[in-house]
Amino acid sequence: VALVLRERSGVEVEGPFARAERAQALTSGADVVLIATTSFLADIAPDIREALEGGSNVLTSAEEAAFPWAVDESLADELDELARAHTLTVLGAGVNPGLAFDGLVLALSGAAPNLEYVRVERVVDLSGFGSTVLSRIGVGYTPEEFAQGVERGSITGHIGFPQSMRIVAARVGKTLAAIEREIEPQFLSADAKAGGSMIAAGRSGGFIQRYRGVVDGRVWFDADFTGHIDLAAMEIEPRDEVWIQGSNPLHMTISPGFNAQRSSAAAIANSIQRVIDAPPGWLTVAELPPAAPWE
Ligand SMILES: NC(=O)c1ccc[n+]([C@@H]2O[C@H](COP(=O)([O-])OP(=O)(O)OC[C@H]3O[C@@H](n4cnc5c(N)ncnc54)[C@H](OP(=O)(O)O)[C@@H]3O)[C@@H](O)[C@H]2O)c1
Repeated sequence: VALVLRERSGVEVEGPFARAERAQALTSGADVVLIATTSFLADIAPDIREALEGGSNVLTSAEEAAFPWAVDESLADELDELARAHTLTVLGAGVNPGLAFDGLVLALSGAAPNLEYVRVERVVDLSGFGSTVLSRIGVGYTPEEFAQGVERGSITGHIGFPQSMRIVAARVGKTLAAIEREIEPQFLSADAKAGGSMIAAGRSGGFIQRYRGVVDGRVWFDADFTGHIDLAAMEIEPRDEVWIQGSNPLHMTISPGFNAQRSSAAAIANSIQRVIDAPPGWLTVAELPPAAPWE
């Protein structure tokens, strides 16, 4: 994100800051503080609090921050109130969540008379992620380790689908009664490289995740995510596809799909200006104009 922004005139970038520079990062009083550390609301809440108290708007890539009320309503409300009290904005942005399963669905649905059913499929090359993200999402495990990790909650798969579904549902006035999920590991048939190390054949190289959002007793939103460090071995290409069913069905394909690193960095860099211009409070991407590479 810093590299993208440093190419722009009129933007001054401080950082990136390491762990030891926490105070400098959060209390600089910059127009926007970007938090790109972990995926979890509870972990970034103290940082958000401090940045707001330091007078900065907050932008974060943490997936749970895209719709924090899906995780912890009272913490989300508390930080929303704090942002309003300081006339500042908090936004969770990125591609997934932030665009592929929510912003894009809403943009497309703008040309649909009604939205009876949504389906989004995403196929992502995971090989560019670092070791922390890879081990948390489920890459590098034996079948037994993978099953145990999912059961214990240490393996999460990709995070953010409930957030995307809640963003879309809230915007179109639907109430999700339940969100069902399943995750199916994909094991490597040959050694493959990711996160700076080799992962041996027989260990997990990725997974297929399926989320189903239920409204009025039937599936209203299907979200399918295939992530793998060696898509070529699976004989599939990265892509993003959205289907909207209703009286005017629509289907959009993004090929070769949003790149997990480059597209996410751009989506976050391009969100700086809309966060500065936004009304106060904790907002979602549904409440703001699309991100764009402004000069
Ligand atoms: N919404 C989206 O579309 C989207 C897109 C991309 C990424 N993300 C999420 O954004 C987060 C960052 O992504 P990434 O790929 O850059 O992850 P990463 O490779 O794990 O890098 C995270 C960096 O943050 C540092 N860090 C972690 N906790 C910290 C803390 N409490 N204080 C200061 N620094 C801390 C880490 O330092 P150490 O090396 O010392 O641990 C590391 O340098 C991840 O949770 C990822 O899932 C979301």
